[in-house]
Amino acid sequence: MRVDQIRAHFPALERAHGGLPVAYFDGPGGTQVPRAVVVAMADYLYHHNANTHWAYPTSAETDAIIDAARAALADLLGAAPDEIAFGANMTTLTFHLARALGRGWGPGDEVVVTELDHHANVAPWRALAKERGITVRTVCLDPETGQLYWDQLARALSPRTRLVAIGAASNALGTVSDVRDAARAAREAGALTFVDAVHYAPHHLVDVRDLGCDFLACSAYKFYGPHIGVLYARRDLIDSLDVPKLEPAPEVGPERLETGTQNHEGMAGAAAAVDFLASLGGDGREPGTRRERLARAYEMMHQRQQALVERLWDGLGRIPGVRRFGPSPSAPRTATVSFVVEGVPSETVARSLAERAVFVSHGDFYATTCVGRLGQAEHGLVRAGCAIYTSDEEVSRLLAGVEEVARGA
Ligand SMILES: Cc1ncc(COP(=O)(O)O)c(C=O)c1O
Repeated sequence: MRVDQIRAHFPALERAHGGLPVAYFDGPGGTQVPRAVVVAMADYLYHHNANTHWAYPTSAETDAIIDAARAALADLLGAAPDEIAFGANMTTLTFHLARALGRGWGPGDEVVVTELDHHANVAPWRALAKERGITVRTVCLDPETGQLYWDQLARALSPRTRLVAIGAASNALGTVSDVRDAARAAREAGALTFVDAVHYAPHHLVDVRDLGCDFLACSAYKFYGPHIGVLYARRDLIDSLDVPKLEPAPEVGPERLETGTQNHEGMAGAAAAVDFLASLGGDGREPGTRRERLARAYEMMHQRQQALVERLWDGLGRIPGVRRFGPSPSAPRTATVSFVVEGVPSETVARSLAERAVFVSHGDFYATTCVGRLGQAEHGLVRAGCAIYTSDEEVSRLLAGVEEVARGA
């Protein structure tokens, strides 16, 4: 599918700012939403809105919509539908899971986290040090390469390790980490693996079985869906998790991980986002399952975004005064590039670009440790992320804008 055909699905792209069409490079903070997602959410709220498990049609329809949402997210993650739980967002789900796992841990137990990770995959585990007396070990970031010191992971593991918490892709630098290898090493040490796939899932097709992880979380609002979090938990672990829950709530299956009444319309929207992505891998007439269409769509997205990130990386590298961070496009990475313009605070760069209708994020993106290790704690980074709707023309406009800012124009 051509990029202009994809763009036609996104009403947000019709927006102009200062007479110019808006170029959204803020996808790592949240992507725009195609019409089909909003239609699915509105349809749920208008025509099927009810609470679950009751004996009348709208309640049964709600149950069916939730089941369909679990099936859709299972296809996206390579999991089974009864391994998919929903929640407010990845952060809340991770705190919830950490509290459940932590109830069985105490002094002498260890968790491994990384300096590259968003704090949502650090704070919930660190909280257990305070609450349960566990030890947290940290794998450090090499600021030069934007990658983790992989040998430190092996050294951090021991028979005391209960869990490795690792991000599949860095939202600050775009670095893709080898979580498959991390999960293998964790398994060999007798530990579980929790993967933060929030920044990974919009760019690479997750396969929880292939990764060999025990838990994985992502957020639909990063892959063209609504604001809702998704947690994969290995089926045989779900029922034994000591989750904080109300006594009358379901005892088995993913529902036991979900507290209170859920965001049903968000689930409907998340499922629609998966179907939208799958539709990019064929028009439905091609043979194959939704998972196979997703695989084709991600392959197409990957090819296109690899070309965009190469242009972006090289183009920024040619601008005097611009310093790029993270791995080059020849290393495994997403199409998210962070940089600074020497002598210009990141917020000023972002404001100047916004005047040119180029929307980029700035700051530490809650990857605070990582940005600090890069020596950019004071002003943070400027972050430009390519999404499925990003065009060549928008990359040109971004580069021209940065060039002007760097020149002081
Ligand atoms: C890599 C990464 N992990 C975790 C989070 C937190 O996700 P949520 O907003 O769903 O809690 C984000 C959000 O930006 C992220 O980029």
